[in-house]
Amino acid sequence: MEPINFHGNYLVMELTNNCNCNCSHCIRDKGIKYLEKKGNIEKRIVINLIDDLVNNAIKFYDFNMFWLGEPLMHPDFLEIYSYVLNANKKNKLFGSVNIHTNAHFLSQEIINLLNEFHDVPQTWHLTIDATSPITYQKISGTHGFEKVVENCKQLLSQKEGKFPRIVFQFIVEEENYYEAEPFINFWSKEFEKYKLSFSKVGYFVPGYVDNFIFLRQCDAVTGGEERQKKLNTLYKNTLLENGIQDHNYEGKEAVFIPEGYVHIPYKKRKKLGEVDFSKNSICSGFWKTPTISWTGEVTVCQRDSGMELKAGDLKKEKFSEIWWESKQMKKNRNAMIEQDLEKIPICNGCLIPKSSNYSSISENELEYYFLKNEEH
Ligand SMILES: C[S@@+](CC[C@H](N)C(=O)[O-])C[C@H]1O[C@@H](n2cnc3c(N)ncnc32)[C@H](O)[C@@H]1O
Ligand code: SF4
Ligand code: SF4
Repeated sequence: MEPINFHGNYLVMELTNNCNCNCSHCIRDKGIKYLEKKGNIEKRIVINLIDDLVNNAIKFYDFNMFWLGEPLMHPDFLEIYSYVLNANKKNKLFGSVNIHTNAHFLSQEIINLLNEFHDVPQTWHLTIDATSPITYQKISGTHGFEKVVENCKQLLSQKEGKFPRIVFQFIVEEENYYEAEPFINFWSKEFEKYKLSFSKVGYFVPGYVDNFIFLRQCDAVTGGEERQKKLNTLYKNTLLENGIQDHNYEGKEAVFIPEGYVHIPYKKRKKLGEVDFSKNSICSGFWKTPTISWTGEVTVCQRDSGMELKAGDLKKEKFSEIWWESKQMKKNRNAMIEQDLEKIPICNGCLIPKSSNYSSISENELEYYFLKNEEH
């Protein structure tokens, strides 16, 4: 079927699942069998993916070039990243190209490349989570705090244009919450030194342009509901103590929306009439958030780190064929619509559709999907 560029969609592609850190909050080394094998995505997979998007006019609001590893550790990072930025400059595939990094390998070559492409929308999250070497070591499981800070300072001091916008990120947890205030103060001063405007923010990072210091909520990857409750309280208190409003930033529109988004017509269907949308039970992942692991396998969201909902493999097929044509994707989508959770057990009880930066799917959008699917 013809691809649909849905509102708020985003593409995730893991460059590598290798990492030099071992963060206490990260799911990466928490005993998931599928994640034991480590490696780097093949360069040709990324190039073929981008070419396929160009050839089929497939667009995404965001392209997140990381999942469960440190993206700057990919040996061909510079080459891959500049291919993506060049393609985006010419074809406006993505509203923003995004990297989250622990900044250990933020080299001068990378800073030069960023300056070369300062007119292409990008967001870089620098995930530091501490203001002292001791706390840094506790959280990240590694040394090198001073080097990380120095790399980030270099990036700011040499920043030439609007992009990438910079987000200094601090995940609030038991071991570091008391360093949130010094963290905000330290990076505020650095932003001010180079006359870069910024705000401090909680829950999620709004818009596509401004710089931020971001206190991020910790998803409890261990410890279950009880620990999550404690972390949520700690998070709210830390936001309030640091003068950050405890609410969502509604109404902050995306500034750079890729061209080619469809107006979704409305036509009521019996089948959809049976779905209770008030429960927000239809997860948009099956339509809006294709997620590619370093192996080239494609699934529906970042929660599926075990690839239970795998729909195909970019080593064998094109992305456009997997996401919009494959029988497996169609089966998975039907299971989600019919709420047949036995066929998609990982979705049972998943909290992501209730989280603050979740992009939902509307009845109209689903209607449009059915129309396109039938036309095919
Ligand atoms: C898995 S990391 C991969 C990218 C890179 N290695 C980094 O840490 O920035 C992707 C993002 O997830 C965040 N993250 C990891 N574990 C988390 C958790 N338990 N709760 C919230 N965010 C988490 C990281 O801080 C980072 O922003
Ligand atoms: S640096 Fe990123 S990928 Fe590595 S362990 Fe920490 S959160 Fe996970
Ligand atoms: S319900 Fe959760 S696991 Fe299922 S597709 Fe959505 S985000 Fe992924």
